[in-house]
Amino acid sequence: MTEIFDDLEGMRAEFNDALSGTETPEALQQVKVLFLGKKGKLTSWLKNLGSLPPEERPRAGEAVNSLRDDFESRLADRRVFLEERQSSEVERRSGLDVTLPARGRTWGGIHPVAQLMHDVVEILAGLGFSVALGPEIEDDFHNFEALNIPASHPARDMQDTFYFPDGHLLRTHTSPVQVRSMLAHGAPLRIACPGKVYRKDSDPTHSPMFNQLEGLLVEKDISVADMKGCLEVLMEGIFARPLKARYRGSYFPFTEPSLELDIECVECSGKNPSCRICKGTGWLEVAGLGMVHPNVLRSGGIDPEVFNGFAWGIGLDRLAMLKYGLTDLRVLFDGNVPYLLSGRTFSC
Ligand code: DAH
Repeated sequence: MTEIFDDLEGMRAEFNDALSGTETPEALQQVKVLFLGKKGKLTSWLKNLGSLPPEERPRAGEAVNSLRDDFESRLADRRVFLEERQSSEVERRSGLDVTLPARGRTWGGIHPVAQLMHDVVEILAGLGFSVALGPEIEDDFHNFEALNIPASHPARDMQDTFYFPDGHLLRTHTSPVQVRSMLAHGAPLRIACPGKVYRKDSDPTHSPMFNQLEGLLVEKDISVADMKGCLEVLMEGIFARPLKARYRGSYFPFTEPSLELDIECVECSGKNPSCRICKGTGWLEVAGLGMVHPNVLRSGGIDPEVFNGFAWGIGLDRLAMLKYGLTDLRVLFDGNVPYLLSGRTFSC
């Protein structure tokens, strides 16, 4: 019986020698096959077990099994050792340190104003409007003249408008796209024009560059009721619920009559006298609008005796602030990603 154990101890020593000489996973595999493979030393030895006297078999079997377990765990340890050595070698050569903590991932998101433009365009597409875009560098004709803005109008003042030395200017509103679209396509026409506009203004509630959404519909027999219906569907779509609306008389050179649209405060619905959004008035001013002035239709090559229509201008940045609960207009332009993304998720 002791011979058997001597034999096994001899095999253990042999295995240890073979194992400590392995330097690669391939060499390790060879040692495994040599001892534990189908024709391996230990496996063959196991087959001899049957020739032992029956009373010796259990102990011998136990000894062989424990040796096999030992070989297997030693092989596994050596594999881990070789793999670690290999990866640290790769790291050393590439300068990569996989033990450094991960940096974390910042997800990008759609800018609130871009998201709002997208939503607005989608709502208006459902009402038959197409998107029209115009140049940000405009001329006096499209930005002012054709919109019935008289030469004496304060908007033309150097104080408000960025002029280029050659007389061109940065458009002060998206309304010139009305004129360009009428001249290009004639009537009937339904267009939505989102885009950047520029004015010499800069304080917590004004930025020298901001975004507007112009709308224009020119057809036959259009009434103020059509205009109200359209704007109310738009507001309801943006805020995803019906909102009370009220209209106040106003003045714009390019519309007659001219109105301003207020919606019920999206924060307090008029219930909080100290509401920070509506300042307790219960109303939020969201759009300028009106029936297109006959002179503007004429500038666009459209006969005002045949066609009429309505137009509106909306400040998209303010609307985005209302929709997403932002408090300072300037964060929209600062590129402060954590602030822009905080607490909001956008679809795309
Ligand atoms: N263009 C105007 C502005 O920038 C906004 C506006 C008001 C546009 C009334 C319109 C309108 O089309 O009908 O202040």
